[in-house]
Amino acid sequence: MPLDPTTINKIMWSIPNILCLIGSRHEDEWNAMTQSWVTQVAMEPVLVAVSIDTTAVTNRLIKAGGSFSINIWDRTDTRPFVKFSKPATKQGMTLNERPIREGVTGTPIFEEAVAYLECSVWETVACGTHDLFIGEVVDADIVGADGIGDVARMEDTRMKYGGVKRGGH
Ligand SMILES: Cc1cc2nc3c(=O)[nH]c(=O)nc-3n(C[C@H](O)[C@H](O)[C@H](O)COP(=O)(O)O)c2cc1C
Repeated sequence: MPLDPTTINKIMWSIPNILCLIGSRHEDEWNAMTQSWVTQVAMEPVLVAVSIDTTAVTNRLIKAGGSFSINIWDRTDTRPFVKFSKPATKQGMTLNERPIREGVTGTPIFEEAVAYLECSVWETVACGTHDLFIGEVVDADIVGADGIGDVARMEDTRMKYGGVKRGGH
């Protein structure tokens, strides 16, 4: 029996997801994008996986640069997620006017993130529309004034991602 796309969407969208910004860089090209597919996949080494559209600028930059950052955001500020769903504009040390700094791997870290993980690519798995980048955590910090607090999640916005492929994905 063929899979019913409405059922697949409903089930996929029922799985809770964080919303964060993935930072990437290769040489002079810096970027960040809105990301919901993030999960830890091992404890030793500490590995975390992000699955990224093969057509995204971020995908190209992670492959070329060999690293990425996972910038975790406060729940009360979901405005960046709309803007970072297309390639970002860098001006000085900002991306879409949000201040960044250079992490230990050279990848951008957002100054406004409440916490971040910086990862070096450990393995890349081709997954059809997406590539799964498995990263080894090489740096991490909690920088929010009040600790991590409540982090941004998909349910905090009216946006959805995932399910079956539509016109774009
Ligand atoms: C709420 C939301 C969640 C998203 N989650 C992902 C994701 O997990 N993986 C992915 O490849 N794209 C995801 N995207 C889409 C990217 O943000 C979008 O394709 C972006 O244009 C890619 O940016 P880039 O080309 O600048 O790298 C999401 C978009 C939104 C709005």
